[in-house]
Formats: sequence, structure tokens, C-alpha cells
Amino acid sequence: MSADGVIGLGDIDSTNAFAIRSFEELSDGVLVIANRQTAGRGRRGRRWLSPEGGLYATYVCKLSGVSPVLAGGAAGLGTLETLLARAPDTRWGVKWPNDVCASRDGVLFKIAGILVETVSAAGDGFVVGIGLNVNTSKHDLLGCDIPTTSLFLETGGRFDLMSVAVELRENICEWRTVALESPEKLHEQWKKRNVLLGRRVCALFENGRSVDGIATDIADSGELLIRLDDGVEERVSSGDVSLRPY
Ligand code: BTN
Repeated sequence: MSADGVIGLGDIDSTNAFAIRSFEELSDGVLVIANRQTAGRGRRGRRWLSPEGGLYATYVCKLSGVSPVLAGGAAGLGTLETLLARAPDTRWGVKWPNDVCASRDGVLFKIAGILVETVSAAGDGFVVGIGLNVNTSKHDLLGCDIPTTSLFLETGGRFDLMSVAVELRENICEWRTVALESPEKLHEQWKKRNVLLGRRVCALFENGRSVDGIATDIADSGELLIRLDDGVEERVSSGDVSLRPY
């Protein structure tokens, strides 16, 4: 089934893997979605559990002039807007780099994650994967090692996945235009919506090293700036660390 730039698949290994394999045949700006993924990919080599009821989507970006960092930001902000339209009473925010979370009593509940992967064959471009817990039940989230939520858990309602996908795509397309025409505006909104800035965080590096400090800013490069307790500023990039807010 296809609607308004959205290509619906049944079960698949991973929508990102599919979009990379089919990159040449897919048009710029389409969103590929699947019912379930058998090998959903998360950031930093993790798995993304993908039971029925969630939205598993990949946005195809073939335009030059938009960096992967900005494309990730456009997807994060587009996801946030899609959620705001359906659950306006929840406090939604972006947790650097591009997790989308509900914030309650100082705790962040992750609802969506974003994985940008570059495609170097078949012309330059990248794919932006979005995993969004839509009709996902509490039971389906039991295996997660961080607090998580879904649109169903936030509102008690069930949502038509194709309608959510169509609106998500439109929102991402709009933010992509902003990224192209005025990247500083996208960057400003990305920072404004970020729930980590001003908060104490612990950054864990791949090699086991960890640092604690206050997240103070996000650089144009996409790096997060953390002021350590001794005043030193640490710049971390999203591929290198996992972050725990306090
Ligand atoms: C994260 O680790 O937070 C990012 C998760 C991204 C998951 C989405 S689901 C659709 C797309 N296909 C994948 O295999 N991964 C992304």
C-alpha cells in the first residue's frame, strides 16, 4: 500500500537496510514503512526491537546541501511535531542527538529514536530511520533498559499508522526545507527543544571512559558541549558516547 509519498511494506529485516539496498530505485523524499522489522538497527550497533504496533520508517534523502546532522535534526523535530498533534498534553522534547522523549517528574521516557546512515554507492545521499512507539503496549516495552513510552500509553488511544506516517513525512519535508534555506533556524529550534541543555549528564565513551558535567550547548557540527566540574569543556559526538541524564 502506498499513500502520499509513503511506501508501505509488510515484514522486513530493517527499513534502513531496505532503503540502502533500493536507494537507486527510490525517489528523493519518500518514506518507507514496515509493519515489523526482524533486524531493526539502533544507534551504535544496538538492536531496535520492532513488534507490530510501532512505526518503523525510513526517509530517503538524495539532496546535496543537507548534512546528515541537519537531516537527523529535521527528523527529530518532524517527529516531535507529529507527537504534539496527537498528544498535546505530554511534555515532548528532543534528547541529544535525536531521541524524542516525554518528560515527567524529571524522568525522560523515550518514544522515538533516529538513525542516520550514509549511502555512498548509487550517488550520494543518506537514509534517516525513525522508530516510533505508536500503539505499542507496556508489555512490548518490557525488554527496554531505559524508561520508554508510546503514544498509546500517553493518550490511551490507538492510531492509524499510515496517517501518522503521512504526517511524519510532511513534517520532515518541511524541516528539510528549513535545513536547506536557513540551517541556523533549524539549529536554533533543535537546541530550544533539547531537554538536556542545562542538565547534568554522564557521557559514556566506547572505551569505557566516562565524564560527568553540565550539557551547555550544541555546536553547529552537532557535537554536544559538556562543562566538566573542573571547568574543562568536553565536546562529544553522537557516534562516540551514550548519555545518561541525572
Ligand atoms: C536509536 O538507537 O535510538 C535509533 C533507532 C532507529 C530505529 C529505526 S526503526 C526504522 C529504521 N530501520 C532500522 O533498522 N532502524 C531505524
